Amino acid sequence: MSAELQISDLRKVFPTGKPAVDGVSFTVAAGEIVVLLGPSGCGKTTTLRCVAGLEHPTGGEISLGGDLVSAPGKGVLVPPRLRNVGMVFQSYAVWPHMTVRQNVAYPLRTRKMSRPAMEAAVAEALELVDLAAYADRPVTQLSGGQMQRVALARSMVYAPRLLLLDEPLSNLDAQLRLRLRDDLRRIIKKAGLTALYVTHDQAEAVVLGDRIGVMQGGKLRQLASPEAIYNRPADLFVAEFTGATNLIRGTLRRREGDYGEIEAPNGQVVRAWMPDSGVVGGAVTLALRPENVRLGVAEGEANRFQAVVRDMRYQGTQTIYELELLGARIETLELGTAARHPVGSEVAVSLPPALTWAYALGV
Ligand SMILES: Nc1ncnc2c1ncn2[C@@H]1O[C@H](COP(=O)(O)OP(=O)(O)O)[C@@H](O)[C@H]1O
Ligand SMILES: [Mg+2]
Repeated sequence: MSAELQISDLRKVFPTGKPAVDGVSFTVAAGEIVVLLGPSGCGKTTTLRCVAGLEHPTGGEISLGGDLVSAPGKGVLVPPRLRNVGMVFQSYAVWPHMTVRQNVAYPLRTRKMSRPAMEAAVAEALELVDLAAYADRPVTQLSGGQMQRVALARSMVYAPRLLLLDEPLSNLDAQLRLRLRDDLRRIIKKAGLTALYVTHDQAEAVVLGDRIGVMQGGKLRQLASPEAIYNRPADLFVAEFTGATNLIRGTLRRREGDYGEIEAPNGQVVRAWMPDSGVVGGAVTLALRPENVRLGVAEGEANRFQAVVRDMRYQGTQTIYELELLGARIETLELGTAARHPVGSEVAVSLPPALTWAYALGV
């Protein structure tokens, strides 16, 4: 049944190039969904394949439900089929000559189950992915989204201890992707499975994960709840990768607890949350999400500045503004069908200190 996954100091170095996975440690609690998020090439798939046993790690330890399944230092390497792990990949990987039911039943054939037990497990898995009505259809008659649900049912039918999913939605068209994204979390939770899910898509990570681990260059930068990743990014990479696209260079003038006072290019001082220590007088980068720049604000708020609208893009349900602020160019957006700030106008802006972040170290 559903088990805890523990990874400690995992390393994988391929004969060519620098480490693909470079000292990654984390735990996925039983029944939890952890999403590894990061750009292409950051080591997500390699981490997943090490957990599945498809890749031989160079170092570190992996345990599943308290059983050591991989520890090169101790000569332990449990083969994939003995790990009892389910996998869903980007490609649909269904058997085209079989029906939906036959596809889902396939993994049970080698598992010595009685026929009634097998039929019950298949029916339950099909019910879970909402394909009971399609059981006797050839899979080739299904849509991409339905085929991916078959693949999901097939990977869950034998009640694996852990479900691994590698960008399972990336071959689907945009609309299907959104629908199945919401379904996936519900299905995995209903089955009570522990899951490790890999994607480069931040929206997918937020919707699916109980926690998100942001990876870069083979390293795990931050592992936290979606709210913490979005509101308390631990470093500049995490901030930028999850959408803090406004970056302003400044100088740290004063430090006070978790906050810093940063001098902007135009000499104005901004109060910002600052997770790393930084040196007074040293260079820092301010990072701001467009959604966190507040337009037309009331008196008395902290970090209140005047900005000039330099450009705007009306998008119907929202407007993107390019502002001159603090001696830099930044983007912000205004929800609603009315664009209230014409190009050239002055506008009051506030930057909530808790949502204005400063980092001493670059990406
Ligand atoms: N079989 C392999 N041989 C050599 N290098 C590999 C192999 N598989 C992956 N890599 C390299 O390891 C790094 C991480 O790859 P991968 O885990 O596939 O990243 P991601 O899934 O995040 O896109 C990349 O630099 C990639 O080129
Ligand atoms: Mg990959």
